[in-house]
Amino acid sequence: MKKIISFVVNGIEHELAVEPRRTLLEVLREDLGLTGTKKGCGIGDCGTCTVLLNGVATFSCLTLAIQADGCSVETVEGLAEGGKLHRLQQEFVDHGAIQCGFCTPGMLMTAVELLRRDSAPSEQDIRRAISGNLCRCTGYQKIVEAIQAASEKTS
Ligand code: FES
Ligand code: FES
Repeated sequence: MKKIISFVVNGIEHELAVEPRRTLLEVLREDLGLTGTKKGCGIGDCGTCTVLLNGVATFSCLTLAIQADGCSVETVEGLAEGGKLHRLQQEFVDHGAIQCGFCTPGMLMTAVELLRRDSAPSEQDIRRAISGNLCRCTGYQKIVEAIQAASEKTS
């Protein structure tokens, strides 16, 4: 039986009827059309599905949509403002930190959370923060450099 949930996604309030077994990832992608959040493994190993749930980086593949009832959700679609990329997105582009791009939305959301709680993280802090986000392409160095560059513009 479906349950009615209401939550705010990227500042917009939504009320939806969802089956309790469905994940937040499925509801974001299939019901709200927010396909920026990617499904990699679906079992909590890769981090591509990372969104912010009440400001905390969360694997949406391991989160039931009903757990987001009453919460605020932020996805990669909410980062750019007025057609201008978020500074992290811009630094990822400028540093060549995006290759296939599949890991990028999750990496960005993890990095957003990190820079909100620590505006000047060390390289080790950055590497620790993104340790749950796997990238098959970049070797991570460019991603770390992009996050470092964005943090310098924060502080
Ligand atoms: S798709 Fe969620 S951790 Fe891999
Ligand atoms: S850029 Fe391809 S998985 Fe990270």
